[in-house]
Amino acid sequence: MKEFLIKGDRVVLRPFKRTDAHALFSHASSPEVRKYLPFMSDIANVESAHAWINSSRRLFRQNKGIYLGIEKIDTRELIGSMNLKNINLADRNAEVEYWLEKRFRHKGFASESLLLLLDQAFTELDLVRVYAIVHARNTSSIRLLERFGFLREGTWRKASFMNNVWSDVYGYGLLKEEFQISSYNHAR
Ligand SMILES: CC(C)(COP(=O)(O)OP(=O)(O)OC[C@H]1O[C@@H](n2cnc3c(N)ncnc32)[C@H](O)[C@@H]1OP(=O)(O)O)[C@@H](O)C(=O)NCCC(=O)NCCS
Repeated sequence: MKEFLIKGDRVVLRPFKRTDAHALFSHASSPEVRKYLPFMSDIANVESAHAWINSSRRLFRQNKGIYLGIEKIDTRELIGSMNLKNINLADRNAEVEYWLEKRFRHKGFASESLLLLLDQAFTELDLVRVYAIVHARNTSSIRLLERFGFLREGTWRKASFMNNVWSDVYGYGLLKEEFQISSYNHAR
């Protein structure tokens, strides 16, 4: 796969660089980011942030994942990440995963970034299906997916045990033929 650099109005999605390690560690240190992304707890210092970045680049070379930092165009800050993981080129499926640092939420940056990634996923990569696995209480993430027409395809009952509470986990999916840039723009 060729390197991805996807430019939007306010953000650019681009591969993680070594120099992102401090910002990545800072994102991973936030309970607000870690809450629904347990793997972020492994990024416990700048060295493990470096290791995560190296691993993301290795998975990219193996055609298994596209891990993109969300960079705000005006300030060039790394404000989050928008990734395709578990890419299966035989079945043309992949899982989407994302986060935003807390102070950049509720401003539409995740929506803009997801739009850019889905456009590439369904055109450049020619995927037929993009899916997401979401905790039932992660309402912001559910709103984001449903804004793009992702359908709830299934429920894993009591699949998560967090803070002494059992919760369901949802599987969401979007097919290529269901993805319409114009319908997202109208829904905004
Ligand atoms: C999931 C997550 C990325 C969603 O972030 P978000 O800020 O809610 O999403 P957006 O950036 O698209 O912002 C959308 C909101 O901003 C509002 N908004 C404000 N200005 C806007 C603009 N210019 N354009 C679009 N939306 C705008 C929208 O109305 C929307 O509000 P709503 O949530 O009340 O409907 C964020 O909650 C997060 O990082 N969570 C932690 C990590 C996580 O859970 N990841 C997912 C695991 S499955």
